[in-house]
Amino acid sequence: MIDLHCHLLPAIDDGPPDLGAALRLAQAQAAAGVRTVAVTPHAIAAWPNDEARIARGLIEMRTALRAASIPLELVHGAEVDLRWALGRSDEELSGLTLDGGRWLLLESPLTATAPLEEGVATLRRRGFEILLAHPERAPLLQREPQQVARLVRAGVRTQVTAGALEGRFGRHVQRCALALMESGLAHTFASDSHSAERRRPGLREPLEQAGFGAAVRLLCEEHPAMVLAGQAPPETVALKRRRGLLGRLRG
Ligand SMILES: [Fe+2]
Repeated sequence: MIDLHCHLLPAIDDGPPDLGAALRLAQAQAAAGVRTVAVTPHAIAAWPNDEARIARGLIEMRTALRAASIPLELVHGAEVDLRWALGRSDEELSGLTLDGGRWLLLESPLTATAPLEEGVATLRRRGFEILLAHPERAPLLQREPQQVARLVRAGVRTQVTAGALEGRFGRHVQRCALALMESGLAHTFASDSHSAERRRPGLREPLEQAGFGAAVRLLCEEHPAMVLAGQAPPETVALKRRRGLLGRLRG
């Protein structure tokens, strides 16, 4: 599987505080069946990570993975804040895309008043494709889910977070994640993991528990591979849900 959203690099944002913790997270990723991880530290005013800093962390981490014999491939990336992105040059933003391609992992704004649609349109006009991280957690998208549908029609693709589907952010966020998946608006599924313990990795199990086991290949392999190859996953993703696996997840 390919995890397109993971705060794996040590001491660069609110992910692992040191190399040992980062290696534990990497080990947990590999144990969960993930073979490729996009390292996506925050790129935001509080953590203004740029291409050079992320590249240095990536080299250090790859060396440590080899030394520890952890079979995990890493690709370059960042989780980019909307307002911060709008203030960056094309060259700066190009250094933050997933694997150096055209796709930016854009954090869904957690404030209720961010200019999301206008900002996304601006970034797309500048030539960047947008993978929208965890729309299910964004208050403005929870309030107006049709905004996600409009964004997707405009070319945006989404990344639903495993912990959201599991209910780790509460029932409301869980229902929003389910709604995205059931309305064909979930294109990729990622962990957004920050450590082996807190917001830990794991993609297959949360999908299976929610009745979407049949979607593992599509959401965690095929579509992420398309994004890394510079292609867009299809606009609508019809997912079959097997009901009754967990009564508490009844949508
Ligand atoms: Fe994240």
